[in-house]
Amino acid sequence: MALGELQIPAEQIDHAAPFVAAPPAARTPAFGRHLVTMGNCADCHGAALSGAPSIEPGAPPAPNLTPGGVLGGRSETQFLTALRTAATPSGHSLSSAMPWQLTGQLTDEELGAIFAYLQSLPPRAYNSDQPLATSEANTIRQGGNP
Ligand code: HEC
Repeated sequence: MALGELQIPAEQIDHAAPFVAAPPAARTPAFGRHLVTMGNCADCHGAALSGAPSIEPGAPPAPNLTPGGVLGGRSETQFLTALRTAATPSGHSLSSAMPWQLTGQLTDEELGAIFAYLQSLPPRAYNSDQPLATSEANTIRQGGNP
C-alpha cells in the first residue's frame, strides 16, 4: 500500500505500544481513521487534523481537514480527485508538500474511508482542537487554499 512509504522509520516506532487490530477494510470512518494514523497525516495537518503551519520553509501550510476547513463543502468525488491529481475544485493545484502522489495510489474504498472519517470529525477552527459552532463552520474556510 502506498501509505507505507509515509510511515515512520522502524527505529522510531514505539514497540512497547499496545497492539491495536486494524478495523476491517471498508468505506467506514473507523477504517479511515486507521489509514489516517498509518499515513501520518497528523504530522503535517496537526494532531486535531485542523491544519498547521508549514513544516518546511517555502511550503504552504497544511490545511484544516475537519468539516470546519477546506473539505467542509466537498463531495467524495472532489476529495478523490484532489488526492489523485492534485486538482482542487477551486482550480488550485496541490504542491508536492502534500504527498498526493502517494495518496493517489490508494483505492476508491481507502480514500472513501478517509473522507468518511474526516467528515465525521467535529468542525474545528484552523490549528485548534476547539469545535466550531456549525454556523461558523459553514462560513469559515481557513488554513489553506480554498
Ligand atoms: C508532509 C506533510 C503532509 C502529509 C504527511 C500529509 N499532508 Fe495533506 N497537505 C499538506 C500540505 C502542505 C497541503 C497543502 C498543499 C498545497 O496547497 O499546495 C496539503 C493538502 C491536503 C489536502 C487538500 C485540501 C484542499 O485544499 O483540497 C488534503 C485533502 C490532504 N492534504 C489530506 C491529507 C491526508 C488524508 C493525509 C494522510 C494520508 C495527508 N494529507 C498527509 C501536507 C501534508
